[in-house]
Amino acid sequence: MRMKQNINWYPGHMAKAKKSLSENLFLIDIVIEIVDARIPISSKNPDIENFATNKFKILVLNKSDLVDEKFTRASVNFFNEYNCVPVDSISGKGFNEIKQMINKFAGAKREKLKKRGRIFSPVRIIVLGIPNVGKSTFINKFVGKKIAKAADKPGVTLSKQWIKICKDVELLDTPGILWPKFDNEQIALNLAFTGAIKDMNLNLYEIALKLIDKLNSIDENILKCRYGIEKKNAAEKLADISKKRGFVKKSGELDLDRAAIILLNEFRSGKLGKIFLDDLFDKRKKICHHIVI
Ligand code: G4P
Repeated sequence: MRMKQNINWYPGHMAKAKKSLSENLFLIDIVIEIVDARIPISSKNPDIENFATNKFKILVLNKSDLVDEKFTRASVNFFNEYNCVPVDSISGKGFNEIKQMINKFAGAKREKLKKRGRIFSPVRIIVLGIPNVGKSTFINKFVGKKIAKAADKPGVTLSKQWIKICKDVELLDTPGILWPKFDNEQIALNLAFTGAIKDMNLNLYEIALKLIDKLNSIDENILKCRYGIEKKNAAEKLADISKKRGFVKKSGELDLDRAAIILLNEFRSGKLGKIFLDDLFDKRKKICHHIVI
């Protein structure tokens, strides 16, 4: 995938961010890692296990409202070694399950400390995840008030506020930013399609063509249903979207960049359907298909 410019924090600042995270996580009992339910494998941090050792971890499949339940269930099954919970942070669906897990952990911590004759200190939680997976939306909904949006720089700022969730539980009001993996081109593209890589770093025309190819490989009807366009190559399809939507520059040329932005936005907001992009293997190593509209 060609970028317009390097993403300046990756991979240069990765080692520093990893060190800062492992040093700062000593105060934390529970790590909630947020991933995008449409790309749970592509959006999962590659080595969270190495710096969040000895923590109780909850893996949140956020934006599950944008994925058919069948794939969400398959994802939960895929990540069965985690405490994995599908969530929609806009409506708060799935939050009760997370709260139950936290309360159970807090009860066990209290018992353990009591047995040792030690004073109970509140359970402290941090939310981590790569950019744009919905960390801020999750925290806002979880604590019921608006917190500041964190800059997309890997690391964690522990000088921020602890928000009391209940008597025994506190949550850091600022999420920690993780770096994504770029193991292969498809993962990098999945991150670009869903907005995890900032658009300003991308050639959106090329990304839109790749998205068209990807969507066609999943189901040719996706673009046909939304834009009424027929079988053609990706560039012709994007030109057709431009024509159908009347995106024409003053010079009379088709405005393909505008069509690219619209296509990406419509995909990201779920207007093209509930589309799952990762290659998810089930327990018998059979690949799942990606979509149900
Ligand atoms: P971040 O802190 O991890 O960077 O992500 P943030 O919360 O800013 O969310 C990124 C985008 O994802 C936002 O959309 C947000 O509304 C959307 N989002 C977060 N959680 C969910 C979810 O569970 N379901 C759906 N459908 N969307 C979710 P945006 O268009 O960038 O901004 P906005 O104007 O909609 O807030």
